[in-house]
Amino acid sequence: MMEEELYTVYKGVYVVSSMHTPESLKYFEEFAFRPDDIIIVTYPKSGTHWMQEIVPLIMSGGDPAPVDTIVNWKRVPWLELQQTASLELEQRPSPRLLTTHFQYNMMPPSFFEVKPKVIYVTRNPKDVFTSSFHHHEAASFLVDPGPQTQFLHKFLDGKVLFGSWFDHVKSWLNAADEEHIMHISYEQMIMDLKDSVGNMAQFLQKPLDHEAIEKIADRCLFKNMKKNNMSNLSTVPRELMDQTKSEFLRKGIVGDWKNQLTPADAAYFDAVYKDKMKDVKHTFAWD
Ligand code: A3P
Repeated sequence: MMEEELYTVYKGVYVVSSMHTPESLKYFEEFAFRPDDIIIVTYPKSGTHWMQEIVPLIMSGGDPAPVDTIVNWKRVPWLELQQTASLELEQRPSPRLLTTHFQYNMMPPSFFEVKPKVIYVTRNPKDVFTSSFHHHEAASFLVDPGPQTQFLHKFLDGKVLFGSWFDHVKSWLNAADEEHIMHISYEQMIMDLKDSVGNMAQFLQKPLDHEAIEKIADRCLFKNMKKNNMSNLSTVPRELMDQTKSEFLRKGIVGDWKNQLTPADAAYFDAVYKDKMKDVKHTFAWD
C-alpha cells in the first residue's frame, strides 16, 4: 500500500496510522518519566529488539525469566505504540524499561525535566537501509518498498517511517554531553558483546560479575536469541508480518549492504551521507 493509506505525519515524520494513533501519541506526550527509567532509543532497524533482550537481562542480573516469559513489546514497551497505554506503566515498579523510536527533539516535556537514562544505538545506515528494505517486504503495516533504488531515495530523503536517519542520529548525538545518555553502536555489540554488556551494566549502575556478563552475552547471540519465541516476533500474526518473506531476525551481521546495494546505489548513498554528515564530528564504528 501507499504512504497516504498507511501513514500519518506526526511532527514532520511518518508514523503508522493504525499503531501510532492520536490517543497513543497524546499518551506519549503526557508520559511522566521517572529519573530511574531506562529508555532504549533507536532509529528502526538499528538493533532495538536486541537491546530489548540485553537490557532486561542486565537488570535481572542474568536471570532469563523476564525474556523467557514476557513478550518484547510488553517487556520494554514502545512509548508511542497504541497498545502501550493499556500496560499501566504507571503501576510498574522502578526501574521501568521503555523504548522509543522518536528523535531527541520530539521527546515529551517530562523527559527534559527528569532526565531518565537513555541508551542510544546507532548502526551503519547502509545496513539499516538493507534491513529496512527486507522488513518492508514482510510487514503489511508498512508501505510496499517498491524497487530498491526508489526505496533508497525515499530513505535518504527521510520519507520513511520515523523520518530521516540523519536527523534522528544528529538529534541524539547533539545531546551527547548529557550524562544520562549512553551511545553504543550495533557494530560494537557485534564486535564484542561481552564488553558491550559490561559497559551497559556499568552505565545502568548494575554491578555484574564476569560469569553473569558471559551468560547474558551468550543468551543474546543472534543464533540463541532467534530461538526465543518471546523475542523473534513469531507471535505476531502472519497477516501483519509474513516471516516467510523475510525473517525478523534476518541475518544479524555487519556489512550486509554489500550484498544488497548496487555500486550505483552505494555511490549515491555515500555522496548523500557525506553531504548530510559534513558538520558531524563524531567518529562512527563504520567510518
Ligand atoms: P538484519 O535485518 O540486518 O538481520 P530492530 O530491532 O531495530 O528492528 O533491528 C532489527 C535488526 O537487528 C535485524 O537486522 C535483526 O536481525 C538484528 N538483530 C536482532 N537481534 C540480533 C542479535 N541478537 N544479534 C545481531 N543482530 C540482531
